[in-house]
Order: sequence, then C-alpha cells, then structure tokens
Amino acid sequence: MTQEDLFKKLIAHSKEYGFIFPSSEIYDGLSAVYDYGQLGVELKNNIKKYWWDAMVRLNENIVGIDAAIFMHPKVWEASGHVGAFNDPLIDNKDSKKRYRADVLIEDWLAKQDEKIAKEVEKARKRFGEAFDEAMFVETNPRVTELRKKRDEVNHRMVTALTDNNLAEVKTIIEDCGIVCPISGTKNWTEVRQFNLMFETKIGSVAEGAGTIYLRPETAQGIFVNFLNVQKTGRMKIPFGIAQIGKAFRNEIVARQFIFRMREFEQMEMQFFVHPGDEMKWYEHWKAFRMKWHKALGFGDDMYRFHDHEKLAHYANAAADIEFKFPFGFKEVEGIHSRTDFDLGNHQKFSGRKIQYFDPETSESFVPYVVETSIGVDRMVLQVLSAAYTEETLTKEDGSKDERVVLKIPAAIAPVKVAVLPLIKKDGLPEVAREIIDSLKFDYACQYDEKDSIGKRYRRQDAIGTPLCVTVDHQSLEDKSVTVRYRDTMAQKRVAIAELPALIEEEAGMKKLFKQILG
Ligand code: GAP
Repeated sequence: MTQEDLFKKLIAHSKEYGFIFPSSEIYDGLSAVYDYGQLGVELKNNIKKYWWDAMVRLNENIVGIDAAIFMHPKVWEASGHVGAFNDPLIDNKDSKKRYRADVLIEDWLAKQDEKIAKEVEKARKRFGEAFDEAMFVETNPRVTELRKKRDEVNHRMVTALTDNNLAEVKTIIEDCGIVCPISGTKNWTEVRQFNLMFETKIGSVAEGAGTIYLRPETAQGIFVNFLNVQKTGRMKIPFGIAQIGKAFRNEIVARQFIFRMREFEQMEMQFFVHPGDEMKWYEHWKAFRMKWHKALGFGDDMYRFHDHEKLAHYANAAADIEFKFPFGFKEVEGIHSRTDFDLGNHQKFSGRKIQYFDPETSESFVPYVVETSIGVDRMVLQVLSAAYTEETLTKEDGSKDERVVLKIPAAIAPVKVAVLPLIKKDGLPEVAREIIDSLKFDYACQYDEKDSIGKRYRRQDAIGTPLCVTVDHQSLEDKSVTVRYRDTMAQKRVAIAELPALIEEEAGMKKLFKQILG
C-alpha cells in the first residue's frame, strides 16, 4: 500500500468510526474546517490532558490561563501580525489556481533532496559494504552539482522572503522552471502578500462597529496577561504561562486533512527568562518537548528537529519538531526564542510599563521569552497516522483474516476498556455493568453485548481500545474475567478486583510522565 493510499484510508476510517467529520457535511462541507466526533473528542481531550499535566502539573514554575479569543485590535499591531503575518501568494493564469510561492519553492527543494537521496541509494547498491556515504556526497560530481544548486536556491529564497523581495521570489520560481501542478504551465502572476487573519466586527453597525480579529495564535493572550499572572501568582523568573485554545488562520493552501486547517487548536507555553538566559532555556525546552513526543512510543526515528534558517519576525532562534507523516516529515511543534519582542512592543503600544522587578538584584527588565507551540489537531493526525495498522492474521485452522487496528498509545486512547459479556443472559450483562460502574469514575469504558465476541474485539481494535474485558460463566463462580490485549491479542485471566491496578499499569499516564522526567 502506498503512503497516499494509507492516508486516504485513514481519512475514511476517521469518519467511519466517529473521530473526524467534515464540517457542515450536509451542506457539502467547508474547506479546511473539520468537526470532531464522539471518539475524536475523547482522543483530543486526552492529548490536551497529556500536554497540560506534563507542562503545568510537572513543572512547579508553570501556571495556566484561558484568555478570550477576541482581543483589542492594537494587540495585533503590537505583535506584528497586522503588518507581517502574510503569506506570499502566486496564481497560475491558466489553471486559475492559487499557491503559496514559498511552498512551490520548498516543494522544488524537496525534489532536489529526493534526487540526491536516489543517487546515494544507487551508489550504495553498486558499492555494497565498502560504500562511504559521506565521501560520496562530498565528491560525486552529480550530487555536488545538485547540492550546490539546491543550497543556492534555498539561500536566495530565505533572503528574498526576509527582505520581502517579492519580485525575486517570482524570479526564483521562473529560474527553477517550476510549473503549475494542474495546468503544467509557467504562466504565473506577480507574487503578492496576503494577510492570514480573519476579520470580524464588534458592536452593532449603527454604533460604528470596530474591526477586530480572530486570534491567529493563542500566545498574545499570555503576553497581555504577563503582569496579571506574575503579580497575582507571585511568580518569580524564570516561570511559564501555558494555554490551550482555538486559533484561526485564513490559510491559502489548506490541505492534508486536519494538518492545515482554518480553525484549529494550539497548546502554547511562554517561558519568561532573564535576558541572556534564553539560549539555555531554548535548549532545555527543545529537549523536554522532544521527550514528551517520544514517550508516546511511536519510535525515535519518527521524529527530528528542523532548525529554522528563515526566522519569524519575532524570533532569534527557532526549531520545529517534525514527525514522519504518511506525506513525509512535517512540523508538529515549534520552539521559538522570541526575545523581548512581544512584551517590549506591548509596552510601547499600550503605554504601560511591562517589566519584571527582581527583588534579589533590584533590577527591572523586560523578560525574554522562549515559547513552545504545538497544534492539537496535528497531534491528533500524528497519533492516528502512526496508529493505523492493517494486519493479516492466520487463524487456528490456517485460514486468513484481516483486521484494522488503531495502535493508539493506551494512555491517550479514547476508550480505555471495553467490557463484554460473552452472552446476553445468565446474569453476565449484570456483572459487566457492575465492572463498568466501578471503573467509570477513572476510565472511559464501553459496554458491548451485540454480535459474536470476535466481531466485538474487531470493533474495539478499530477504535484503538487497548483492553477488552470479557465476562463469562466462570466469572460468576470465581469473580475472574478474561483480559484481552489489543496489540498482541494475548489473553489472560485476572480477578475482577485486580482490574483497576492492571488498567492503571497499562493505560495510565504516569508511566509517560516518569519517562519524560527520567
Ligand atoms: N505562537 C507561535 C505560533 O503560532 P506557528 O509555528 O505558526 O507558531 C505553532 O504554529 C503550531 O500550531 C504549529 O507547529 C502547528 O502544529 C500548529 N498550526 C499552525 N497553523 C496551523 C493550521 N493552519 N492548522 C493546524 N495546525 C496549525
């Protein structure tokens, strides 16, 4: 199965089992907007809890807030979003399709990387054991030529975007011979800037309504509350403020399902530090956040850092944590050293003093900020795409069977335990209900008595339930049940009284937190 096929199947599966639906589907949907269904919302909530507890509960010096989506319009002038939160747009005159000019160039760069990788693989096969990749990449004429061209174009793009030189961006597209994927032509318009913020009106039109924006990031709600939290919480630098909430961006190229949406959710933490300490904390948070990802157990090779060459208008260092999606390594989280840009500008634009007074040194200063910013929806996509597995099983009689199983890390699985009476009579349903009643305070449980036990296991596999508990006639005699594990399909007999400890061991978040801190 190609990665593209896998991705299509994942989208279909997400809908079929109630994880994610297109928004307003009965009206044919709304582009790049999605709704979470009954299982999607549970998965999303678990991811948020995993993040919140790892950031706020495990770190004494981090507290949370929940700021409003609407903010004073001056916030977005001070943050630079009114002036600089733009994407460079280009249209193809033949297909009438609109693209992000930088994405067209980045796709071209990725193609050069693929060509280089192909040359390396060919040589590896030719030379066998004696192959020295580093030497080959440095000396092979075709590869050095490809790399030189690639690096030149990358450098030109970064410079052009930093200087806002849109004419040069178009020249790069022309020089690289980039064609429209739809029309196949090079008939491009000029490149122009497009602001990504959604506007709306506050107050009635009769009163002279003012324009406000739907926030494009949650971070500004934290900056404008810096003094409120610092003073009321008696917070001492270094400390952090965390927040989870919706953000909105009028993305031009909205694609890849929930990867790039127009309405999405962010989990952001701003860590306020003494100027000069930011690089130390930047490295600290890069490492901490990578551990948080890896603790989920998808495999260390599924993640990598990408250090930015082109920095956002507010940053002096930035890196992405990238995950290997079915469509390649892509950003799930950004770690940014934002200097004193935001607090400094809010001080300027609001006319209020926004400084921290250090009682030990008696100095006042505008703190520097290191931010960690991750998209909840991208995490959901990451989890689903890594979890989706098709397996062929050999039955006892030698015949083959297929199953689709979502190998979601047990700690964030939407349903932790399914309790299944073997048959619908003889008091088995009652025992199953009693078990659920004792577990439901701590764990999301599901009761299912319909169809054969095999079919019920398959249904739970398809939604990622890590544990199935089967109640049979023996349960009535000795108060024991069969526990069946999703990934291995192994079964074991356990006492009903032991279930809470077993579920905690298998599906609790504590194990993950210990790994992060360990
Ligand atoms: N406050 C910094 C900030 O917003 P960003 O790199 O623009 O930085 C952070 O966004 C994260 O938010 C990204 O790594 C991604 O996970 C998520 N994100 C950004 N735009 C998104 C979109 N259109 N759809 C879904 N997630 C998005």
